[in-house]
Amino acid sequence: MSGQPAGATGAAPQPAPLPPRGTRWVGTSWKMTKTRAEGLAWARAVAAGLAERGAGAPGGGSPQVFVVPPATALAEVSGLLAQEAPHVLVGAQDAHWEDAGAWTGEVSVPQVADAGARLVEIGHSERREHFGDDDARVALKVRAALRHGLVPLLCVGETAAVRSAGGSVEHVLAQVHAVVDALDGADAARVVVAYEPVWAIGSSGRPARPEEVAEVVEPLVADLGDRLAGVLFGGSVDAGGAPDLLGVPGVDGLFVGRAAWEAEGFLRLVDLVAAAG
Ligand code: PGA
Repeated sequence: MSGQPAGATGAAPQPAPLPPRGTRWVGTSWKMTKTRAEGLAWARAVAAGLAERGAGAPGGGSPQVFVVPPATALAEVSGLLAQEAPHVLVGAQDAHWEDAGAWTGEVSVPQVADAGARLVEIGHSERREHFGDDDARVALKVRAALRHGLVPLLCVGETAAVRSAGGSVEHVLAQVHAVVDALDGADAARVVVAYEPVWAIGSSGRPARPEEVAEVVEPLVADLGDRLAGVLFGGSVDAGGAPDLLGVPGVDGLFVGRAAWEAEGFLRLVDLVAAAG
């Protein structure tokens, strides 16, 4: 074992548990924000808020809650939540497709799993735009996550130019097929897709109208819904827009950035997701 990261060899890891199909999801990625102390404060406040609400195991009305801290805070946040809110899935924002090796600056799936991650966000538009994560690389990363029993959160979405050219559905279906078609059924059934149109993400994004979301999610679910663990929506989601987005057929939950970076904001979204049933 010497020289190998944890999990790089040996018995296949136990897959992270998935909630029953039809469970609502709500989660946040902190992107490149928060120190360890800030992350722990958020996690403590959210754990306390979930306990106050009596939030239990996902399913039966309780959503699957998840949080995706930066790699620096992963071990501490996952350690705290394992104690204080064990049903919260903790994820990494990315992971390399190789288990170990000469890849300076990267972290592998076994390494993020060792730090407590049970989910890996893969293919976020910021990774695709700035770091060269194309469909082929995204597919490799999804397979690496599955190999180690983590839940891949596959992010897909079209740019404004693709949407105005009328190509949204084709683009998003191609992004999902590029990953899922190479998987067997059991692996595909562990993939959670986040539909996040690029034009809706971040402070320069425009919140999507429910009918714009439906335009893509309905054909996506019709084509691939039975093969996936769930379909989430993300991009400028906030408490004001959440109920209508949750009402779009096929949307199982929300993946939120800025509106969830304060614990109270996140808990408000948890309440709205729980209320959506
Ligand atoms: P936002 O980020 O909610 O801040 O737009 C969403 C995302 O990038 O997943």
